[in-house]
Amino acid sequence: MTETYMNKNATVAERVSDLLSRMTIEEKIGQLTQLPANVEGNTDKLEEWHIGSYLHCTGDAAMRLQERAAKTRLGIPLIFGIDAIHGHCFDNDATVFPTQLSASSSWDRELMREMAKVAAKEVRATGIHWTFSPVLCIGRDARWGRVNETYGEDAWLIGEMSAETVKGYQGENFASPDSILACAKHYVAYGETTGGRDSYEADVSRRKLKSTFLPPFRKAVQKSKVASLMTGYHSNDGLPCTTDKWLLTDVAKTDWGLDGFIVTDWDNVKSLHTKQKVSPTIEDACYRALVAGNDMMMSTAEFYEAAVKLVKDGQVDIEVVNNAVARILTKKFELGLFDEMRFYSPDRQEIFGNPQNLELAMEASLKSIVMLKNDGILPLKPTKDLTVLVTGPNADDVIAQLGDWSFGSMQAGATNDSFHREQAVTTLQAFQAASKQYGFKVEYVKGADCIDSEFEQVEELARALTQADVVIACVGDTLAQNGEFHDRANLDLTGKQQAMLEQIKASGVPLIVNLVASKPMTIPWVAENANALLCGFNSGTKGGEAVKRVILGEHNPSGKLTISFPYHVGQLPVFYNKYEGWHAQNSHTTGHKERYIDMPEHPLFSFGEGKSYSQFEYSNVYLKQVVIEPNTDIEVSLTVTNKSVIDGTEIVQVYFNDHFSSVTTPIKQLCGFERVDIPAGQSVDVTIKVNFSDLALVNSELEEVVEAGTFSLMVGASSKDKDLITLEFEVTQTTKVH
Ligand code: BGC
Repeated sequence: MTETYMNKNATVAERVSDLLSRMTIEEKIGQLTQLPANVEGNTDKLEEWHIGSYLHCTGDAAMRLQERAAKTRLGIPLIFGIDAIHGHCFDNDATVFPTQLSASSSWDRELMREMAKVAAKEVRATGIHWTFSPVLCIGRDARWGRVNETYGEDAWLIGEMSAETVKGYQGENFASPDSILACAKHYVAYGETTGGRDSYEADVSRRKLKSTFLPPFRKAVQKSKVASLMTGYHSNDGLPCTTDKWLLTDVAKTDWGLDGFIVTDWDNVKSLHTKQKVSPTIEDACYRALVAGNDMMMSTAEFYEAAVKLVKDGQVDIEVVNNAVARILTKKFELGLFDEMRFYSPDRQEIFGNPQNLELAMEASLKSIVMLKNDGILPLKPTKDLTVLVTGPNADDVIAQLGDWSFGSMQAGATNDSFHREQAVTTLQAFQAASKQYGFKVEYVKGADCIDSEFEQVEELARALTQADVVIACVGDTLAQNGEFHDRANLDLTGKQQAMLEQIKASGVPLIVNLVASKPMTIPWVAENANALLCGFNSGTKGGEAVKRVILGEHNPSGKLTISFPYHVGQLPVFYNKYEGWHAQNSHTTGHKERYIDMPEHPLFSFGEGKSYSQFEYSNVYLKQVVIEPNTDIEVSLTVTNKSVIDGTEIVQVYFNDHFSSVTTPIKQLCGFERVDIPAGQSVDVTIKVNFSDLALVNSELEEVVEAGTFSLMVGASSKDKDLITLEFEVTQTTKVH
């Protein structure tokens, strides 16, 4: 007779409970242990430690391990996790999309979903079931090495983007070939570590967690049913996330009803002892991590033996372990791993060779490009007599263009010079191809290097400049300057990049700067001196082609920044939604100037900013209702007119401000947006709904409430005051939400 857990007709709950009843303590702890497959000796432990999960398995290794797992006493399948962060990038044939920061400039929910769907298909086709994505951290400090992994600086926007990404990964049914588990990380406020230093301490209070950092995760759990969360490396207000029972159990599991499990980040458990020093022994670290609510421990090999002992000695209640195992097994059953999907292995060609995937990558790159300046030089007319000088370290550098998590888990160490080269198009390559199509001339001089501070080509550049009609300078940073362990105190252009730009400027040849970078850089000189500035960050495999299309007017840019650029690193933080009291206007009353005396108050480029070749005009902005009863959503309507002769896309943004409140609240806070396609010369009516609950603050009692009183609603093209039309509405009653 088939055991219940192997019976497909039984419910998942019945199968889990049957399997649990058959498992030894060792087998249970094995399910909670996740080891990196690429660290020597770890795969040898599969049978001995009853390992439940491996991460970073590439090639056919996953299948081989799965075959071994099938032969164990209970045949419990392995679940494999990988960092498919902007595509299944550790696989050479996979589609490499723009990074989260880059793609977020599209403000395109559907695009987020579609990219995730492609990644899911490609991941699943390689025998892997789970991606450690998306990142829901808030990118407020550009010094942090991992800013490229975020959807920018706004928690609300992060919630919107990540909710769609999770839906794309997970699909409708985990047992289908285009579905994988998503993992919302890093739980929580990991981007807020002091001074942008990765994994350090964050001084974030519980009230701030509730008001700013938890909401995107709640959306992922409640709206998109994300299957897993990853516990951050750091501590909040002195408490390591790994030991924070309130965070893991009370909030995520009990209050939000997480239907899934929580995995720690890399070796978090051991770090409690070796780094954060809250545990005098490894055993104590394991104890604390388990009882706080972590279900799976990533990369702490010591966990297995210590945890078995803790349970056998009665120090950890077996129910704690059962609960964690049940959460993991539930997902394994739902993924179909006990059934047909255990050895799912489709024809790679069909999945990876799909031209539609590359078309989507192209669309993503196009939508991610932000035009930050244009004095009229763009679009460039590709006439036959034109000589275009393409220059800069990132003009022809696939590693810099694709960025972090594109080549393997080595990240910044990646020097891989063959990966993704078949699909990737750099700016230089795109212009070389275009020169054949249009008949203009392209010259290339690298000119400078991001890393090698000595490298310069002053003479070569000078020679080329005498022939050039226009220069496209691709500057920024490269992979070795970002990602984990690569925070930067200085965000200026490195090497001789600045000198190279100044040489070009001095020559009088018009200068178009293309910023290929992982994050905002401090480039006031560029903003002032370049004729045009484009920014795609790490804009994916088709990034170079996309930039070329924008420059030559084959595509009208629509991207808008989701992160502010500082003038100077000392000006950080410059995020737009600062709290009341930072507002320059208030300085009249308090007598304080809320800015540095040697720096403007505003950023160099603001959140929501981005130009188009079209000109848009806003009119007829009105609210459906100006007196808002509890739990009534707000509706704002407007007309946007494309005053130009080319079709364009405008990203309409809606912000609010709570005039007087019991705690300080942001001077403005994004609460709605819409991408609107507007044909040349036409007008489009737009209505945007703002959820009543999004007006909430967290009061001193840690309750989420919308307080009665007057609010402003600001509608327009960016977060800048000059771009916004302001209306007012009244909330009649203070109302608890969530
Ligand atoms: C990172 C995570 C990642 C994990 C596994 C950690 O160092 O912080 O984001 O998912 O490694 O590679």
